[in-house]
Amino acid sequence: MRTLIVWGVSVSALAAALTGAHGPVSTARASEDLPKTRGDCQTCHPNEARDWAQSRHAAAWESETFAQTSRNRSLKMCLPCHAPEPILVKGLGEHPNLRADDRTHGIDCISCHQDANGAYHGTLGTKTDAHATVKNEKFGTVEMCATCHEIFGTVDWYKQSEWGNDPHGCVNCHMPVVERPIATGEGLPARKARIHKFEGATPEMFQKGVKISHERRDDLLQIKLESVWVGHTVPTGPEYVVAIVEARFLKGEAEVGRHQTLLADNTAIDGNDTRLKPGERRVIRAPIPEGATEAIVRVLHKRNRELPDDQARILYEAKVSL
Ligand code: HEC
Ligand code: HEC
Ligand code: HEC
Ligand code: HEC
Ligand code: HEC
Repeated sequence: MRTLIVWGVSVSALAAALTGAHGPVSTARASEDLPKTRGDCQTCHPNEARDWAQSRHAAAWESETFAQTSRNRSLKMCLPCHAPEPILVKGLGEHPNLRADDRTHGIDCISCHQDANGAYHGTLGTKTDAHATVKNEKFGTVEMCATCHEIFGTVDWYKQSEWGNDPHGCVNCHMPVVERPIATGEGLPARKARIHKFEGATPEMFQKGVKISHERRDDLLQIKLESVWVGHTVPTGPEYVVAIVEARFLKGEAEVGRHQTLLADNTAIDGNDTRLKPGERRVIRAPIPEGATEAIVRVLHKRNRELPDDQARILYEAKVSL
């Protein structure tokens, strides 16, 4: 350590120099920190790989809630979309087959991009020695996402929404465009690339899509929801997936009441579908208990409705003085 300081080099600068962060990028070193993908795409497409690793597509097989609802992955009909063979093999719009190997990778690069000849499809028309590419205008269209997402009505709702005529509607909201080189290598130009995080039910997305306000009206707390930027119901997906709008009333530290409204597809249970529709405004009226001084308004999201509330993901939270 002392020698480093004598040289006048900060430890972090030296570390950066050794790992090549400031100098020429050493692919071998850099790729050790990257998520491993089938086909080793991460060695040349590190941005896509890092983003994808955070996505639910990467979690589709390992997902705890998927395991719970598919009887520990033993229900055969549940498995294909969660660990598919490349969808381009059967063709867009056809439910994929379950693949034999590496199911833990879920829906990965090869699942979406590779065709029966081993070429990778996209819309950019690039050519490279690294692998064959095919320019496919259907790639990234609603028709492609519908291959798996159509089953829960997401695409039907999409078609009725104000975005419904845009053939790229799903990716325009879920894969924002950035200008950057799409692969590592000398002299590659910046291109129109798309972020591969496939963000869905996250606080950032939810709060962009649904405007929430709350105010006291006499002895009621009014919670107003408006779906302003969601091309389908909230939530969307299989009926296991639910959201809850909650008001917890407090008097000092003590909870004196709780009001919950379920947003869910209950058609099979009691004939009701209480999900928030595209463009819908809804007012929830929660009676304020005697003596309450404060309310905490939250929106909870569960991938399996059986989960207890404390395991839900919090999409929104605000304190309201009463
Ligand atoms: C050895 C490096 C390398 C590897 C490994 C690699 N690629 Fe590529 N890929 C490239 C280069 C270079 C380009 C073209 C970049 C450019 O011209 O801007 C490219 C382009 C692409 C494109 C764009 C196609 C288009 O024109 O729209 C896709 C999609 C793609 N690769 C997918 C993959 C997938 C999926 C994998 C892993 C299964 C993979 N690549 C592995 C180097 C690689
Ligand atoms: C759920 C399907 C899906 C998965 C999984 C997926 N991609 Fe993509 N990929 C797309 C779509 C859609 C586009 C954008 C097509 C368009 O509009 O140009 C794209 C674009 C690309 C491109 C072109 C440049 C860019 O960033 O837009 C590359 C390269 C690429 N993907 C590589 C990968 C790699 C590597 C992985 C795995 C780490 C991966 N993709 C996983 C659907 C997928
Ligand atoms: C091979 C089937 C398949 C294809 C094709 C596919 N998806 Fe998915 N997608 C899934 C599955 C399965 C999940 C749920 C993963 C999980 O959470 O277990 C998912 C999850 C998502 C989520 C995240 C949901 C959340 O809970 O936050 C988004 C957003 C999404 N997909 C968008 C897209 C878009 C956009 C496309 C088209 C470019 C696409 N998907 C193509 C199967 C697919
Ligand atoms: C106008 C923007 C917009 C369009 C178009 C759109 N979405 Fe979404 N999507 C959102 C927002 C915002 C959320 C987060 C709110 C939520 O959880 O429903 C979301 C959530 C999701 C989720 C997670 C749902 C949940 O509650 O767990 C999936 C899956 C999804 N979208 C898939 C799709 C698919 C597939 C398409 C195309 C048919 C599509 N989206 C079109 C904005 C959009
Ligand atoms: C046709 C393709 C397909 C089949 C078959 C399928 N799923 Fe999914 N699954 C999806 C897609 C797409 C999503 C993402 C939906 C969303 O969040 O809006 C998803 C999401 C889920 C989720 C929420 C995300 C998570 O990981 O917790 C659960 C739970 C789930 N599926 C369980 C099942 C079960 C159980 C079966 C069998 C009864 C099944 N799936 C069959 C495509 C499929």
